[in-house]
Amino acid sequence: MIILGIETSCDETAASIIKGEENKIEVLSNIISSQIDIHRQYGGVVPEVAAREHVLNIMPVIDEALKIANLKHGAIDAIAVTVGPGLVTSLQTGVETAKVLSYAWNIPVIGINHIEGHIAANFIGEFSVLNFEFPMIVLTVSGGHTMLILSKQLGQFETVGETVDDAAGEAFDKAAKLMDIGYPGGPIISTEADKFNEINNTQPAIKLPRPMLTSKNFNFSFSGLKTALRYALEKDSTWQNRISEYCFHFQQAIIDVLIHKTIKAAEKYNAKTVMLAGGVSANKELRLQLETAVKERLIGTKFNLPDLKYTTDNAAMIAAAGYFKAQQQEFTKWSDLKVDSNLEL
Ligand code: KG4
Ligand code: ZN
Repeated sequence: MIILGIETSCDETAASIIKGEENKIEVLSNIISSQIDIHRQYGGVVPEVAAREHVLNIMPVIDEALKIANLKHGAIDAIAVTVGPGLVTSLQTGVETAKVLSYAWNIPVIGINHIEGHIAANFIGEFSVLNFEFPMIVLTVSGGHTMLILSKQLGQFETVGETVDDAAGEAFDKAAKLMDIGYPGGPIISTEADKFNEINNTQPAIKLPRPMLTSKNFNFSFSGLKTALRYALEKDSTWQNRISEYCFHFQQAIIDVLIHKTIKAAEKYNAKTVMLAGGVSANKELRLQLETAVKERLIGTKFNLPDLKYTTDNAAMIAAAGYFKAQQQEFTKWSDLKVDSNLEL
């Protein structure tokens, strides 16, 4: 089955073509037109600007996806498109384009939840049912979401914990803004943190809180951590010379809470598999430390990570989610397809 995926929920205009065959999802093309350079000057995504860029980029990106896959549109069996959650004016471009193409090409369309897409990124490539045993706990961390998701069967999700304020990616972005080191903050903080050598450090240690670490539920809170960082910077006249050290400790504070709660949730729900998803799953330390924690503390539990190139927003993950829905014949009539910017999982 050949599926065209379309993703425009935030600031990336993306199209991808995948080929799904039983337990294999092969990516034939994965085109992403990023608006990061445009939004960087504002320190964040400006919805109105993002919407106009999507309109300009969507057809060239789809064209390119077909070209790279070396396919004509007649080869496409179905279109999978993100319908939410996300910025309403951004989502609209992807959804309206998918509707028009579905009608014009006379092929079915499938509405995809963006979060489900991030989770599906774990299945790109060859996957064996043996590696994905249910129940699963999925830590989903992006710029807009921080959730612990329990999945007892394919396509079924229950949110067992989420952030009560900022998302993990948002915390990275806001911390980077406080230190004025660029946008988006996650990859910059991660690179800076790598430069810090904790062992050879002679400066007094920077102490940041681990919000809600011991709370009885699986919820998160990152807004206080950002405020704690702001106070620490204000008190330290030398902070500009200690950027990598601040990044190291800020990143570790987030990782500690994420890992602690993921392990607790996996224990409570007897998870047979733990997975990571979302833009923050590109974080090298989070990937390494979560894998180690699962190995050491959840003996026998399987662990999966999405390939780095499918961690931040892309359309291959949307097409992959579409492949699973197409197998279940979960198609939508083009005229019924609707944007839902607050779509729940
Ligand atoms: O999934 P995504 O591309 O978009 C949303 O759905 O929100 O996630 C973007 C978020 C941004 O907040 C960005 O700072 C964060 O993912 N991010 C990272 C890394 N790469 C991207 N956070 C930490 N470490 C990274 N390496
Ligand atoms: Zn995303």
